[in-house]
Amino acid sequence: MKTVVLAYSGGLDTSVCVRWLADRGYRVVAFMADVGQGEPSQRVLSRAKIAGASQVIVKDLRKEFAQDYVLPALQAHAVYEGKYLLATALSRPLIAKHLVEAARAANADAVAHGCTGKGNDQVRFEVSVRALDPRLQVLAPLRVWEFRSREEEIAYCARHRIPIDVTRKSPYSIDRNLWGVSVEAGVLEDPWREPPLDSFQFVSSPERAPSRAEVVTVEFRGGVPIRLNGTRLALVPLIDALNRIGARHGVGRTELIESRVVGIKSREVYEAPAAQILWEAHGELERLVFDRELLHFKQSLGPKYAELVYNGLWFTPLRAALDACIGFTQQRVTGAVRLKLFKGSCQVIGRRSPHSLYRERLATYSAKDQFDHGAAEGFIKLFGLPYESANLSK
Ligand code: ARG
Repeated sequence: MKTVVLAYSGGLDTSVCVRWLADRGYRVVAFMADVGQGEPSQRVLSRAKIAGASQVIVKDLRKEFAQDYVLPALQAHAVYEGKYLLATALSRPLIAKHLVEAARAANADAVAHGCTGKGNDQVRFEVSVRALDPRLQVLAPLRVWEFRSREEEIAYCARHRIPIDVTRKSPYSIDRNLWGVSVEAGVLEDPWREPPLDSFQFVSSPERAPSRAEVVTVEFRGGVPIRLNGTRLALVPLIDALNRIGARHGVGRTELIESRVVGIKSREVYEAPAAQILWEAHGELERLVFDRELLHFKQSLGPKYAELVYNGLWFTPLRAALDACIGFTQQRVTGAVRLKLFKGSCQVIGRRSPHSLYRERLATYSAKDQFDHGAAEGFIKLFGLPYESANLSK
């Protein structure tokens, strides 16, 4: 008998996947990754069993996710198409890695996922699995099965007595982890229409946020956020706390038309308060401690890094090389940033660092000024010389 390890979420699609794979003669191991979407309920676990899983594995991957995936992306300032902080995209290579490990432990022939044929996640899972273990087969039931609608899947569950929560189904497709929430489908598919209030998952709408601003202080050491408002916190609780605070103030919501790997444009809505706050804070600290050349070069890497993550190219030499380069720069990124959160906005209002390159005696316009004004003249002469030459008589 062949064994398959399925990335199981507990939703309708992956519940149907369990039965569908079992019907095709597979021994199905359901693998649930806890990436901060909330602990799986007993219902969800027993649903996998009832659907025909021979084993259900739940693994808490939050720490690894934060440390090895979220943190490098934060330090790289990976933001896709200028707006998406990549919560979903970052979780896929991690889940793929653990699928491969579980497959090895179970001596499995294949792994499977419940992604559709038009999304990015299938690409991320499959490219990652193949990079890690090219001998494993990857099955994508949703791309080939007979069901053409949710209703048909629900009928299939009824036939097989698989208990599902149809009534609790949101009108949206939602993916959630500690770095953020992705919301799509339903009325969001009309790109002209404002996302309705019920599409907000945990961030309050700016209109309903408190009319009093809140100031937060984030402290970094070597590029790693280590303290929030003076309290030392590990990465996962620090992100959780910032999500709560930011969400209260309506911070971290973005929506955009996004270019998928498979060629289509889609309307996406994201909520990522902690990611947004940490990205603003970390970026500001780099502006303070990096010299101009380093800062500008480092800033040019973010879009490329985001593209790699988005396209599912995590386990690649270029990503590893970028991490090495970016990691080297992070030694200086120590200090604190103060930010003000208010009705959806998140503004840096102060920063300091032992490695600060800011010198008041050079910047000031007051009598304390020590900048060498005379040196400017010669500098400008040579700096502009190439352009002057164009109009000089030979
Ligand atoms: N478009 C995003 C991405 O490709 C989010 C996809 C998440 N899926 C969902 N069910 N909302 O990363």
